[in-house]
Amino acid sequence: MIEHTLVLIKPDGVQRALAGRIIQRFEDVGLKMVAMRMQWVDGDFARKHYAEHVEKPFFAGLEAMITEGPVIAMVLEGVHAVELVRKMVGGTEPKSSSPGTIRGDFAMHSYPYADAKGSAIKNLIHASGNVEEAKGEVALWFSEDEIHTYATVHEKHTF
Ligand code: CMP
Repeated sequence: MIEHTLVLIKPDGVQRALAGRIIQRFEDVGLKMVAMRMQWVDGDFARKHYAEHVEKPFFAGLEAMITEGPVIAMVLEGVHAVELVRKMVGGTEPKSSSPGTIRGDFAMHSYPYADAKGSAIKNLIHASGNVEEAKGEVALWFSEDEIHTYATVHEKHTF
């Protein structure tokens, strides 16, 4: 039940200086950061990460958005981490994401607005969709020696 999941703070989240507040939410709930890197994504890597979206009409906008600035990539570890992080992130469209979620609290774009601008929807963050996807995405972004093993104070003093 202890899972790893991939989270990206996308260029819009980095440029809006929301990284600290987003990471704080994951730490507050008890998730453990086991890998982290800031990096630029190029077109080839965007097509690997977003393989399922390459044929979608919004892919050109998505590639432009994910390559326009550095992203912060991280692996979070925790109980049912994949499902938990998706719940915290909220739905794809910020306008309809629930209040209390990261997208619902920090972003406002809608599908019609993105379509009118010919861009991908700016929703700050990417999180693996399910356990299988998480395994593939963690392996795509991080080598095994970049994923760290350590005990948090909670693990040291609670269990
Ligand atoms: P993300 O969770 O990173 O996964 C794919 C991304 O594509 C998604 O967040 C949005 O940024 C974008 N996206 C998904 N669906 C649409 C859509 N219908 N129109 C524009 N952008 C989209």
